[in-house]
Amino acid sequence: MTGGMRKGLTSYGDADFSLFLRKAFIKAMGYSDDALERPIVGITDTASDFNPCHGNVPQLIEAVKRGAMLAGAMPMVFPTISIHESFAFPTSMFLRNLMAMDTEEMIRALPLDSVVLIGGCDKTTPAQVMAAISADRPAIVLPVGPMLVGHFRGEALGACTDCRQLWGDHRGGRLSDGDIEMANARLVPSVGTCGVMGTASTVACMMEAMGLSLPGAATIPATHADRLRIAEATGRRAAQLASGGPKPSDILTRDAFHNAIVMLQAIGGSTNGVVHLLAMTGRSATPLTLDKFDDIGRRTPVLVDLKPSGDHYMEHFHQAGGVPRLMQELKDLLKLDAAHVMGGTLRDAIATFEEVPGQTVIRPRTAPLTGEGGIAILRGNLCPRGAVIKQSAASKKLLQHEGRALVFESVEDMTTRIDDPALDVAENDVIVMRNAGPVGAPGMPEAGYIPIPKKLAQKGVKDMLRISDARMSGTAFGTIVLHVAPEAAVGGPLALVQSGDRIRLDVKARSLELLVDEGELEKRRRERTPPAVPDDARRGYARLYREHVQQADEGCDFDFLAAVRN
Ligand code: FES
Repeated sequence: MTGGMRKGLTSYGDADFSLFLRKAFIKAMGYSDDALERPIVGITDTASDFNPCHGNVPQLIEAVKRGAMLAGAMPMVFPTISIHESFAFPTSMFLRNLMAMDTEEMIRALPLDSVVLIGGCDKTTPAQVMAAISADRPAIVLPVGPMLVGHFRGEALGACTDCRQLWGDHRGGRLSDGDIEMANARLVPSVGTCGVMGTASTVACMMEAMGLSLPGAATIPATHADRLRIAEATGRRAAQLASGGPKPSDILTRDAFHNAIVMLQAIGGSTNGVVHLLAMTGRSATPLTLDKFDDIGRRTPVLVDLKPSGDHYMEHFHQAGGVPRLMQELKDLLKLDAAHVMGGTLRDAIATFEEVPGQTVIRPRTAPLTGEGGIAILRGNLCPRGAVIKQSAASKKLLQHEGRALVFESVEDMTTRIDDPALDVAENDVIVMRNAGPVGAPGMPEAGYIPIPKKLAQKGVKDMLRISDARMSGTAFGTIVLHVAPEAAVGGPLALVQSGDRIRLDVKARSLELLVDEGELEKRRRERTPPAVPDDARRGYARLYREHVQQADEGCDFDFLAAVRN
């Protein structure tokens, strides 16, 4: 037998001695020889006092262990980095690849026959799956589940779409200091991931579509008993995986990624889903390009009526039947023969689903929210390597728009000047913010949701066309072009825009153009001074990040980690 405790022995030049030493140490934990002879199910522990989204991870771990032991395996928990959106300076995206490296190397280093990846908050599951693809050891994903819905003044609330809506009302003078404080205490009523179709929910739904988690895993609320039951079932399945796969390379084929994009588009998912899926596929044998997202998006309607594209919350999506029910509507668009972590195909996995009479969250194909997918990919002289817009969360009247550019040099510049009463800005202008990309900020902050200038917000302006090389939270809404590639900091055309230039967006034609002739742009290019390397990026992880992070159209992975492709 070469699995279990005999796997990946520390090298002392004598394998039997290495095993002898390993067993001597591990017996300090009180394990019996019987326990140590079993296949080992590794379980990632991403609990952290700084990660409230993962507040139920200790209970989930117990349930996974129970399932693994009931199936005859030995569960062993190991810690990895945990990243929460609000507790990750400068950004969680800056740390995603570090978590991927940590997780990959621990999966590789430890004697695991299979691994349960417990994650959920935005960057965690993508990091774990990137790691699992590279380590290619049998793996199954267990999302922590969405938080419950909150209530304020008789209305349902969900982090964080409503965080932004309420803050916008407060900025616009429509919500008092006292009320915004009360809302602050109601927005996040339980542990679990954001309760709207933000990045965490998007990625969890994509995991089901990719066949990497059990049916129903995406939507069961974090605090429900069913969440513990699916954790137990995940542990059981992980024990079976420990005796011979399938491995991520068997499951995550071109068809699985196709299904993930169909899901992303049909749920009106987060634009971050594009970046993360590109990063995951970049680790695989079948990398994707941005065009694939647009291609599938044109054929895939948005069917899930959830904020920020619609009205409801994850809890309601679950009550309506969740992802397995949604996939019944999408069958003709999905590759149903794709392999599934359960052992059969996606078709087998979704054969059982719940039909909920009268539900309105999952629309039938005859009554979609929008006829096309939520996310469109733009091309043009302002974004030669692409840009992304969440058209399902945009204002229809701005999807074809031309206006005067108002340029901010950075997130700081925007923050300093956006509310200046003297700011020369009008409702039809196009707000441009640059140097907020993967290298520029660094870490591509979710600053793309540029606030409406206060003087316009106070007049009731709720949306304007905004363009940047930043990302945006999946919970946000508005006519916002993101992920402009190449970014300004590495010399992309966004660096050449000047206030007063004209910019034209045409989502139908998938184009984003800077209406300045090429001769003038070339002149500006020659005169441009590239930004200096900041002092704090001269050493350590920040230096590694700056020197190796790829652009958004490649998923912002490190070039040396996406080596399979290269
Ligand atoms: Fe963790 Fe939204 S902050 S999922």
